[in-house]
Amino acid sequence: MRKLWQVVFLISLISTITSGTNPGMKGLVTQRAIDYAIQVGKDIAQRELQSLDIPDVSGSASIDPIGNVYYELQGMRITSFSLSDPVVLFDEGVGMQIGIDVLDIETSGYWHVKYLFISDSGSFDLMAKNIVLSVVVQIGMDSTGRLSLACVSCDSSVGDLGITFHGGASWLYNLFSGTIDQRIREELDRKLCPTVNEKINDFESQLQRMKVTFQLDPAVVLEFPLINPPLIQNTSLELDIKGEWYSTAHHQEPPFTPCPFKLPVENNFMLYFGLSAFSVNSAAFAYFSAGVLKFYVTDEMVPKSSPIRLTTNSFGMFIPELPKRYPNMSMQILLLAREPPLTKVQADNITESVFGIAKMFVVLPNKTLAPAFALEINSSFKIDLSVSGQKLCGSIQLTSFNLSLSSSEIGPFQTTSMEKIFRLGLQIAVLPKVNEKLKSGFPIPEFKGIALVNPLLRVNQGFLMFATDVKYQSQSAGE
Ligand SMILES: *[C@@H]1O[C@H](CO)[C@@H](O)[C@H](O)[C@H]1NC(C)=O
Ligand SMILES: *[C@@H]1O[C@H](CO)[C@@H](O)[C@H](O)[C@H]1NC(C)=O
Ligand SMILES: *[C@@H]1O[C@H](CO)[C@@H](O)[C@H](O)[C@H]1NC(C)=O
Ligand SMILES: *[C@@H]1O[C@H](CO)[C@@H](O)[C@H](O)[C@H]1NC(C)=O
Ligand SMILES: *[C@@H]1O[C@H](CO)[C@@H](O)[C@H](O)[C@H]1NC(C)=O
Ligand SMILES: *[C@@H]1O[C@H](CO)[C@@H](O)[C@H](O)[C@H]1NC(C)=O
Repeated sequence: MRKLWQVVFLISLISTITSGTNPGMKGLVTQRAIDYAIQVGKDIAQRELQSLDIPDVSGSASIDPIGNVYYELQGMRITSFSLSDPVVLFDEGVGMQIGIDVLDIETSGYWHVKYLFISDSGSFDLMAKNIVLSVVVQIGMDSTGRLSLACVSCDSSVGDLGITFHGGASWLYNLFSGTIDQRIREELDRKLCPTVNEKINDFESQLQRMKVTFQLDPAVVLEFPLINPPLIQNTSLELDIKGEWYSTAHHQEPPFTPCPFKLPVENNFMLYFGLSAFSVNSAAFAYFSAGVLKFYVTDEMVPKSSPIRLTTNSFGMFIPELPKRYPNMSMQILLLAREPPLTKVQADNITESVFGIAKMFVVLPNKTLAPAFALEINSSFKIDLSVSGQKLCGSIQLTSFNLSLSSSEIGPFQTTSMEKIFRLGLQIAVLPKVNEKLKSGFPIPEFKGIALVNPLLRVNQGFLMFATDVKYQSQSAGE
């Protein structure tokens, strides 16, 4: 018996793991994005390096025949340096290769010497040329679905070093200037890779703190951890992201699963993002299970120009029985989703099907609601989306609208003319307002200081693809 449970447990575990292997979202970063980031980041690297603390160097040099000379080099500051453009390339199946070439670096500081009873000091300038650093960083995924980084190899070499002393007695520093060259070289060699490692670890701990869920509103939450380790190819890094929405009240899987999709990397953009129909539909499912897909329509919400009011008298033209039973009373509609709305994404074609129920109430003089009848409504829309500037714009068109009576407290009646009027109302009064809003667009969420350049939106079979270049604007330029 126990064995059986173990098998059942194992099977269900395997099926939950394998059912989630297709992503709901994908992201892709190309070499062009890396190249651009390096250009922008070079200034930052310059600033970082400029403020780098250089440890003091001290030691003693054994000098024949006079014995040990104790020396200290302190307060070293970088006065100037030049970097070649760092070379950062994807390393297929591993991560990234980083090559940094510090062409030259000048530092200055103070020296201090003790020999027997003599103590002397002065300043010095140190010049290093051709410090070469080459690092391989492995990029993977940790158990929480975040990116993980590890330095898998690091090599450094220091080219030429030159030190000049000022002040003090030259015979003194000449005693140890020979050994100092080797000491500094060793010190640099000893420090460079651990410093790189430290930076990588710092960066990783920032990644560890990254959120992998996003609560859009009180009803739903988006989970976006990675579900597979990043796919690193020669010119790109691709991320498989869960991209699934859940109701915050109950973490329930929808009765459908993501289909695989492949981002078409065309036109060599910097960044690509894929949003699957699965992700959109999981959001619809989450909202539906949260029970928030409902709202009341009252007469005040009907446009003033409308000849049809939400009143029993007005509805009398479809249902003569209604004003007879409830003369001159206002009405209310409770619109509810019967099922989650369904989004279908086909090449250049998005359709949205909405399955609703309209519960019609009469508002009695004492303000209680008396149920009158309920209508089942199926409607579908065609949606066009585009990006323009930094905005997502669109338009929506009604493609079908069907209505039938699902229950009635006032006897049966024909719904054909009501269907016509409702369809007309939707087309004349509701959709133009929605389209106005869609046309003016919604700003695309942006990271501070990063503008999108030539963004492109494409509707593919099963997913939307968003591709863009980016431009970094200095913080002061933004609002
Ligand atoms: C990636 O680059 C390596 C070495 O440069 C090469 O051997 C390999 O064939 C390349 N792979 C692809 C898919 O281009
Ligand atoms: C209907 O009720 C409104 C007030 O609610 C009243 O002004 C109007 O005269 C009534 N019409 C009829 C035909 O009773
Ligand atoms: C959109 O897809 C639907 C369903 O396949 C199809 O009937 C319709 O003709 C398509 N519309 C366009 C504009 O491609
Ligand atoms: C409101 O009026 C209806 C009928 O006139 C009655 O059945 C109902 O009990 C009333 N409700 C309240 C809360 O007074
Ligand atoms: C649904 O409405 C469309 C027009 O919006 C119509 O062409 C179609 O025949 C209707 N379907 C049913 C099942 O009533
Ligand atoms: C709405 O669609 C369902 C299937 O989802 C169908 O059974 C029903 O007859 C449709 N109702 C109308 C009014 O078209």
